[in-house]
Amino acid sequence: MKSLIQKLVETPGPSGFEYKIRDTVREAIGDSADEIRVDALGNLIAIKGKKAAGGKRVMVSAHIDEIGLMVTHVEKDGFLRVTNVGGVNPLTCIGGRVLFMNGTRGVIGVSGVKAGSLPKITDLFVDVGAVSREDCPVKVGDVCGFERPFLDLGKRLVAKSMDDRIAAAVAIEALKRLESTPNEVHFVFSTQEEVGIRGATTAAYGVDPEVGFAVDVTLSGDTPDAMPRMETALGNGPAIKVRDASFIADPRLVDWMVRQAEAAGIPYQMEVLTAGGTDGRAIQLTRAGVPAGCVSIVCRYIHSPSEMVDADDVENSVRLLVKLLSEPIELD
Ligand code: CO
Ligand code: ZN
Repeated sequence: MKSLIQKLVETPGPSGFEYKIRDTVREAIGDSADEIRVDALGNLIAIKGKKAAGGKRVMVSAHIDEIGLMVTHVEKDGFLRVTNVGGVNPLTCIGGRVLFMNGTRGVIGVSGVKAGSLPKITDLFVDVGAVSREDCPVKVGDVCGFERPFLDLGKRLVAKSMDDRIAAAVAIEALKRLESTPNEVHFVFSTQEEVGIRGATTAAYGVDPEVGFAVDVTLSGDTPDAMPRMETALGNGPAIKVRDASFIADPRLVDWMVRQAEAAGIPYQMEVLTAGGTDGRAIQLTRAGVPAGCVSIVCRYIHSPSEMVDADDVENSVRLLVKLLSEPIELD
């Protein structure tokens, strides 16, 4: 799975520009799905299984977009001014490198920050080695992701865009391992999550699921003085979400997920996240409403260029997702 993770995290795809990562996902799925399609917002939807007695139409959603930067202005000496795509922290940008969709690379500098104050996104500029506006290989509206190689630390894995490519890897692996299921499972590799859960919103409407799960990263509470205070820690298993700032998971589904984890002997932890949102919100609020939950992969340094997950958590997330999708989902 590590080579799949590496391929996914090293493919650029800021929100709205997911065409390369979508191809990477499609290639990784190969012929493992019964049916595969792309909708108008660019969500890749791979279907596996036929509804049998006790089965449901289930949506699983992992977003394939990532945070990044968009060019707002090219200075006459070739420097690029940028705005954020999603939740970018200017502090983690300075000195970093970026990769544009057309292959152009650049480094991020900062200007105009007074001593004692924090940089804003408008204080950043990108230097792609151009000397004038005319020879600059990128233009207004072009987007870049951060460029960091995948780092395998053995038990711990580090990369940019583990949020949410690690969930894409988990979903792809679960799709492949899912053998028999009474459910018709729609694996959605969703777009534009980082700018407001947009891809999953239309995907959920189109799939019209009876139950759904998001798969996404969540904060870890196990680093020095971690804020906000959280119970979650790397290595303690997939986290079963109770709530985040965007939705409250269906309590019946949460209980059922816990019972499935226990029955299969898969370690798990409970997650209460006071910030952030996931595709679970889009599933829950589609049409007349759908019971929804979320399997979270605990991650350190989210939205930095070096997001860290635990390799055992990744494997156990696959196991849990396969278990959840293999069973009739009973909510009462
Ligand atoms: Co995110
Ligand atoms: Zn995410």
